[in-house]
Amino acid sequence: PPARFVLDPAFDVGDVDPRLFGAFVEHLGRCVYTGIYEPGHPSADAAGLRGDVLELVRELGVSVIRYPGGNFVSAYRWEDGVGPVESRPRRLDLAWSSIETNRFGLAEFMDFLRKAGGEPMLAVNLGTRGVAEAADLIEYANHPGGTALSEQRIAHAGAEPYGVRLWALGNEMDGPWQIGHKSAQEYGRLAAGAAYAMRLVDPTAQFVVCGSSGRGMPTFGAWEAEVLQHTYDLADYVSVHAYYEEREGDRDSFLASAVDMDALIEGVVATCDHVGARLKNQKRIRLSFDEWNVWYMSKSEAQQRTWAEAPRLLEDVYSVADAVVVGSMLISLLRHADRVAIGCLAQLVNVIAPIMTEPGGPAWRQTTFYPFAQASRHGRGRVLQVHVDGPTHSTAVHGTVPLVQATAVLDDTSGHVALFAVNRSQTEAVPLQVELRGLSPQRVLEHTVLADGDPDAKNTAAAPERVEPYAAEGTALDGTVLRATLPPLSWNMIRLG
Ligand code: AHR
Repeated sequence: PPARFVLDPAFDVGDVDPRLFGAFVEHLGRCVYTGIYEPGHPSADAAGLRGDVLELVRELGVSVIRYPGGNFVSAYRWEDGVGPVESRPRRLDLAWSSIETNRFGLAEFMDFLRKAGGEPMLAVNLGTRGVAEAADLIEYANHPGGTALSEQRIAHAGAEPYGVRLWALGNEMDGPWQIGHKSAQEYGRLAAGAAYAMRLVDPTAQFVVCGSSGRGMPTFGAWEAEVLQHTYDLADYVSVHAYYEEREGDRDSFLASAVDMDALIEGVVATCDHVGARLKNQKRIRLSFDEWNVWYMSKSEAQQRTWAEAPRLLEDVYSVADAVVVGSMLISLLRHADRVAIGCLAQLVNVIAPIMTEPGGPAWRQTTFYPFAQASRHGRGRVLQVHVDGPTHSTAVHGTVPLVQATAVLDDTSGHVALFAVNRSQTEAVPLQVELRGLSPQRVLEHTVLADGDPDAKNTAAAPERVEPYAAEGTALDGTVLRATLPPLSWNMIRLG
């Protein structure tokens, strides 16, 4: 049977916050060094930023970049990364057992962002450090001048304050692996103290407090509730993280990962609102889904870590199946646009990333690049409600799940509609039928598909264009009814205008 749904602009979810299409740059492996930054690379500019990577980041359409960690930030001294490069210290990076040269720091990151486009989300260290260092950093970055720290920034980087608005208060502080790991009460009080002081420095600052580092954490839910109890007045967003991988060859369950992601989002929203209700506070906390991706974490855990500079860590090479799951996660984010304001694909280059590079060599797009770039480019506007009525199948991990997952975004200015859909069946094409009510697009602008006879196909340095989206045939708009076919194991974008 076909998968069917109705689109009607009278029934929407909410507006897409442009910050939903963010990414994450951590000092980890080769994300920074030989990723975005490689002085001496043939494409590098005077600042050492790789031009080929900058071009791909712009094409990807990244709206926010979270920096500099991740686990890395929990032992980071931000002062190491500012001022003259030659006097910056070499340090042990305890999070990833690597050597951090600090040749790349805040000024270099802000320069990268200016060239790539996008807004910063700076993370402060609440693992080994606290309120004073966090307040110092925001003063250094945002205070106009006339104080020791702001004058230091002026001497290092010029008079214009960075004007960083989004601040992440620590990283995954619930995780026992986190340097300076804390209980929810300890962290909640510290985060409230840091936010309070930072907002005194800059009243426009917005704060992301740490949620759980995963839905599987034993304190999931309880952690968010306790942290928000301490921070509700100061926090704007609570952080959410999720990574998925295919386990033991169970591809059907892997392809349905977004079912778990939906439950995760809805669980965190319910927890936020529960705390709001208890506090009799009308304010609605929104979600910053600031780490999400497919990550073959079990393989990364087996990697040797030595004290090396820019080692090859977490360099997952993504297949077509992985890209379909990434697309499916994007659909999950869009379907919750009313509460998920910020999203950061983790990460941006080389480390579980949509963009890969070779030192001194090329940069190329992984399979996962395509769903992200398409959603970022065309998934802007108002998300419409979509209730898919269609075939289902059963999975070992998620029970019975719909084969087709979909969302639609209406651009009220142009009247264009972008539909994103995945077909989770590994064997069956599924016909799609969409009834349009109160919408009057004239034609199908495009229907592109990411699928392959070999769902394990990947892009590599040797074959960087092995997998690319292709134009589907036979997609038609017949009056107010759209008909298309979704190939097995596919990510689809259909645009009407
Ligand atoms: O993105 C890789 C790591 O995953 C981050 O450093 C950490 O926050 C998470 O556990």
